[in-house]
Amino acid sequence: ISSLPTEKDWVPGNLYQYQGFWHPSKYLQKILTCQNQFQARASDIFLVTLPKSGTTWLKAMVFALVNRTTYDPKSTQHPLVSNNPHELFPFLEFEPRNDDNQVDSSPPPRLIATHLPLVSLPESVKKSACKLVYLCRNPKDNFLSLWHWHFSNNPTTEKWEETFEKFSRGVNLYGPFWDHALGYWKQSLENPERVLFFKYEELKEDPGNHLRKLAEFIGFPISKEEESFNVVDQILELCSFDHLSNLEVNRTGKLLSGHNKSSFFRRGEVGDWKNHLTPKMAQKLDEITKEKLGASGLTF
Ligand code: A3P
Repeated sequence: ISSLPTEKDWVPGNLYQYQGFWHPSKYLQKILTCQNQFQARASDIFLVTLPKSGTTWLKAMVFALVNRTTYDPKSTQHPLVSNNPHELFPFLEFEPRNDDNQVDSSPPPRLIATHLPLVSLPESVKKSACKLVYLCRNPKDNFLSLWHWHFSNNPTTEKWEETFEKFSRGVNLYGPFWDHALGYWKQSLENPERVLFFKYEELKEDPGNHLRKLAEFIGFPISKEEESFNVVDQILELCSFDHLSNLEVNRTGKLLSGHNKSSFFRRGEVGDWKNHLTPKMAQKLDEITKEKLGASGLTF
């Protein structure tokens, strides 16, 4: 548990089912510790995602929004120019439980990411007034992106068909995909002041208005004055796929999680599944989606 993870720790063969979801076995102990010890604060901002649904992008946007008076989004000295977004925005369940814990040592508002399903969130998070932003993505693109990510980090382990079968059965990082999304979807309907639900496709379609909505929700609304000097466009440009993926800091090196930094930037498009999934595979995921999401109102 204490040794650093390697890329092999994230593939379906090394997952463990806990509270109905598949977690990397290596991190289970940390999850239990978080569940027992983590104390949420009302000012915390949580970003909740399934891996490969746009976490890196949203981390960059939230970081840029919250820190925009300290760091000018146009500046070439901006932290997002010299750091991978994951280095600025820690995951609750991956941080060491010691003095190096980036979550514990952050000034308010703490920016905290998590892949944990709703059921596994620490009780203090559930009871707190903190904000949760959930981002998900069409399961076909999500699966495709996940597979490429496994493959680009660990080319020998993953097999396309086998990984697809597992994903369909819910055996993937923090899967089942549908249960993860549905849990937060229902919360966003019941508690819209606490949970904001986004889809990657909507963000791509209308990033400006989604950024404004996000800013409002997390308590950092864009003022009229800021609108007049195009702060929204500046943040979108800073966090854009083209900008981030071409930065030297995101092209080389690894994160502490063992992943290549470049593996978080592939194509950044909607609908790439059409170039890779067979019609049969697409149909299978569509059928599962229809069956699992039913009349919930959540669609992809
Ligand atoms: P693709 O593999 O489809 O290209 P996560 O950040 O949750 O790991 O998700 C990674 C996915 O988000 C990848 O999708 C990646 O290319 C895409 N992505 C990363 N940065 C992005 C950005 N700034 N804008 C849009 N998509 C981005």
